[in-house]
Amino acid sequence: MAKLIFEHSGEECELQDGARIQPACEEAGIPFSCTEGICGTCIIEVVEGMENFSPVTQEEIDFLGEQDVERLACQCRIQGGCVKIRG
Ligand code: FES
Repeated sequence: MAKLIFEHSGEECELQDGARIQPACEEAGIPFSCTEGICGTCIIEVVEGMENFSPVTQEEIDFLGEQDVERLACQCRIQGGCVKIRG
């Protein structure tokens, strides 16, 4: 099991390894729109544990550029361990 932590609320949620984070993020109030990595509505900042997210997608590189702080939540899967995000 993997753990996703929302920094703003301190809320923690357990996810299966390899699960998409979108449903948990939606429940935590993070907005989504296209869900395809195009609009940027779902940008999150990764505070801890970036290495536990799935590799950056081409859509994320196109939207965010090459950097290691922000992700598009609709594109991320959690691979295990713990990730703390800021929505
Ligand atoms: S919801 Fe549009 S980029 Fe994620």
